[in-house]
Amino acid sequence: MKIKNICCIGAGYVGGPTMAVIALKCPHINVTVVDANLEKIKAWNGPLNKLPVYEPGLAEIVGEVRNKNLNFSDNIKSSIENAEMIFMAVNTPTKTTGEGAGMASDLSYIESCAEDIAKYSKSDKIVVEKSTLPVRTAEKIKEILKSRNKDVHFEILSNPEFLAEGTAINDLFKSDRVLIGGDQTSTGKKAVQELVKIYTNWIPRDKIYTTNVWSSELSKLASNAMLAQRISSINTLSALCEKTGANVVEISKAVGMDHRIGPNFLNASVGFGGSCFQKDILNLVYLCRHYGLEEVAEFWHQVVKINDYQKERFSQKIIDTFKGNLINKKIAILGWAFKPNTKDSRETPSKYVAVKLLEEGAIIEVNDPMINLEQIKSDLRSYFQSKSIERVKIDSLLKNVTFLSFEKIHTRIFSSIAIITAWPDYESIDWKSLSLKTKIFDGCNVTNENKNIYSIGV
Ligand SMILES: NC(=O)c1ccc[n+]([C@@H]2O[C@H](COP(=O)([O-])OP(=O)(O)OC[C@H]3O[C@@H](n4cnc5c(N)ncnc54)[C@H](O)[C@@H]3O)[C@@H](O)[C@H]2O)c1
Repeated sequence: MKIKNICCIGAGYVGGPTMAVIALKCPHINVTVVDANLEKIKAWNGPLNKLPVYEPGLAEIVGEVRNKNLNFSDNIKSSIENAEMIFMAVNTPTKTTGEGAGMASDLSYIESCAEDIAKYSKSDKIVVEKSTLPVRTAEKIKEILKSRNKDVHFEILSNPEFLAEGTAINDLFKSDRVLIGGDQTSTGKKAVQELVKIYTNWIPRDKIYTTNVWSSELSKLASNAMLAQRISSINTLSALCEKTGANVVEISKAVGMDHRIGPNFLNASVGFGGSCFQKDILNLVYLCRHYGLEEVAEFWHQVVKINDYQKERFSQKIIDTFKGNLINKKIAILGWAFKPNTKDSRETPSKYVAVKLLEEGAIIEVNDPMINLEQIKSDLRSYFQSKSIERVKIDSLLKNVTFLSFEKIHTRIFSSIAIITAWPDYESIDWKSLSLKTKIFDGCNVTNENKNIYSIGV
């Protein structure tokens, strides 16, 4: 089977950038990205400065290949029909209801993709799991495809995505590794080689690692769990530093200088956010429990529990500084994205801090270079709704949230400023002058050890 047409289902943070890079590096392949969300497809076809995903370098690539060999479409049926290879890059959030609620992955989006693929396929297909999935999901997908469509041969590959938001394009250009899992049958091995061929257009062959499907699926969960574990590990030490006079920035440097440990993912913070770490670890915990590995489950669960503790610890620090009275106190929150260089705010620690302060009666002004007030309020509204808070109460809490422009950070008077996302813009702020009139809580250590400022773990 020669791959001339690729279809990717899911035009989100993963589907958009990965397919843009495949189209750029493989001009001989037509790539079509489809999505059930028509607004999203419209936005991918719209102005380059308003694409649904912001990643440095992405708009330039889309500008180069869009409507040449990269298309964004809402015609799922014909895109599936025409493609020899179909990527599934749909969301796999934590389940909110039913068995495993709060822990297991919600696979309904993946299942509905598989239903569509079975329904519209008239020729053999290679189906690639790009979404992060629990180990042995390929079995379930195979079951759906085979039971719904007996005329077509489907080969399932696992090809998890390791890009990090904010550096996605660079990560895709220079991946540490590309992982491809496939069945150890002759057709499985051939399908793996087809995907290897695509990646070798720009990735050196020795960075492409082929494994069995289950190892590939589990490697993605394992990688995210280990990365998040490092963040929680340094965050536990930040709490100990505050009690002992040690300095967590120095600890990170000292520990990270050991080549066996390395310096990455060792910065103390208000905790990790984003759509992946928490959901993937909870999924891992759920899987371990499913297989009766209670001790292993508990080990990984602690990573998430420490993350919650860190967010709580930071918020409580602010509340305690005002002796529990935040009523009508004006507090600025700097940073809403879960990390710099993205406009993604899923699971952002800022939201948890804002909620806690709002519940104590504070008036919040939020600055973010990429995220507007509408998104901030929508994030907060969804959170409050998920906690079954009454609409009237939510409306009254949200009245206390406004947007703070960067210029006004210096000119407005706040009782307190909480720095949560380490956007580079914040490095240019004159913290010394601000700290004379305002209590500053630095959650990402950007203020450089100013004695008047609370810096996490310092
Ligand atoms: N965001 C990341 O940094 C990242 C990194 C690596 C892996 N992942 C994984 O990749 C997967 C996708 O993540 P994302 O952040 O791109 O999600 P996303 O929410 O940004 O995008 C998913 C898209 O799929 C669409 N969709 C869902 N079901 C569909 C269906 N049946 N038919 C057509 N479209 C459908 C949604 O409308 C949405 O636009 C997840 O499993 C995630 O864990 C994400």
